[in-house]
Amino acid sequence: MSRLSIVALLLASAAPAMAQPATTPPVPRSAGTPYAARTLPDRIMLTPAADPTQGMAVAYRTDTAQATSEAQIAISVDGPTLEEKAATVTGPAGTVKNSANGPALYHQIRFDKLTPDTVYAYRLKGSAGWSEWLQFRTAATQAKPFRFLYLGDIQNGILTYASRVIRQAFHANGGIELVAHAGDLAAQRDDLDHDDEWGEFNQAGAYNWSIVPQLPATGNHEYVDVTLPDGKESRKLGPYFPLQFALPDNGVPGLKTTYYVDYQGVRFIILDGTSAIDLGTMAQQTRWLDATLASSKAKWNVVLFHQPVFTCARPDDTVEIKAAWKPVFDKRKVDLVLQGHDHCYSRLTSETGREASAQARKNGAIQGPVYLVSVTGSKMYGLNDRARTQPDKTAEATELYQVVDVDGDRLKFRTYTASGKLYDGFDLTKGADGNHLADTSEPTIAVRTCTGNIGPDGGKCVARGK
Ligand SMILES: [Fe+2]
Repeated sequence: MSRLSIVALLLASAAPAMAQPATTPPVPRSAGTPYAARTLPDRIMLTPAADPTQGMAVAYRTDTAQATSEAQIAISVDGPTLEEKAATVTGPAGTVKNSANGPALYHQIRFDKLTPDTVYAYRLKGSAGWSEWLQFRTAATQAKPFRFLYLGDIQNGILTYASRVIRQAFHANGGIELVAHAGDLAAQRDDLDHDDEWGEFNQAGAYNWSIVPQLPATGNHEYVDVTLPDGKESRKLGPYFPLQFALPDNGVPGLKTTYYVDYQGVRFIILDGTSAIDLGTMAQQTRWLDATLASSKAKWNVVLFHQPVFTCARPDDTVEIKAAWKPVFDKRKVDLVLQGHDHCYSRLTSETGREASAQARKNGAIQGPVYLVSVTGSKMYGLNDRARTQPDKTAEATELYQVVDVDGDRLKFRTYTASGKLYDGFDLTKGADGNHLADTSEPTIAVRTCTGNIGPDGGKCVARGK
């Protein structure tokens, strides 16, 4: 494609944004086209296959000159000779997406028939040549200790503020093998041009997104508002999520935002709360959740979705989800429920409250599902009235990341602040009778909440009431 035609395409794609009616407030744009697709692949996102011992998938973007979806993959060797034994893998034709940053071609390639517990290197073809070699490790077939990262809503201030949290998490914690995202990866409203937001999301995680398999759940912000032919307002999945993530197709039939992955003794089950609440799939998802838990042979079962069962910011819990899914979590003895949406932190071990829960622990009670809510990005909500007594620990106006280590009968959960301070932690031990929870004995920093208009860092309180 000539330079002239690229410029013409850029102008054509920018035109609709400029032609918005005067009543629509302009969506902020980054200066220029900083996230234009280039001659080398970018937005490279690794995801596990349904069976990550044998398969991985990659989604990425190129300029439109790179018509084919083409990768090379090899079992990694330690000398600079990866190309010698690399196999070429192709994917279906890419999908063109126009945006304010110009046209881009999105590709997806699936790697299959891989050897378990093995380091592979792959690279992707762009119009000017290959990407660097990127390495991942397939999962082991048996339970084997591993570490994963759990992130709440990245959503706002993605590059400005969330990026440091993500980078601190990876910098301070080697060996992260999976990343669980609890939805609202980008705001996709009026904060910033949506393509800029996804550019920021990729810049924030950078090569970590390309070498560590990602487990994203959709949040309400992955959906965009639409008006149906009958004039009713509805929602549909926005264009970026399915382009960015080549997910396993093993969830609720027809609902690709639900899926599960077995990883070294843990079954991760990903649900779509927005579709369940707003688009009529609650019953289907609930049946699928129950069946997927019933068939799990994993020692640990972790469920990941966006709208929390127990909220720390809103006046009410998410009643639809609480009614439909909580009984299944209880019946099937789910270990962790990882959520977002509330832009605060909450670790809840009993609906009856923290005091009753602590007393029950002292008496040797079995621990049921542990409910977590967390936030990575800059938007913050104030805690609700229940949050002062119901969850074991909460935070307000605090960016956080969570590192989880799974090792046989022990699961170690640690929550860190943006600057890397230990904020919360507990260990679950799985016995014949069920789980036992122990608070970490490592020192944690003091509870972070606003006091009036003063935030926990001494400046203004940035958490607003929901
Ligand atoms: Fe959110």
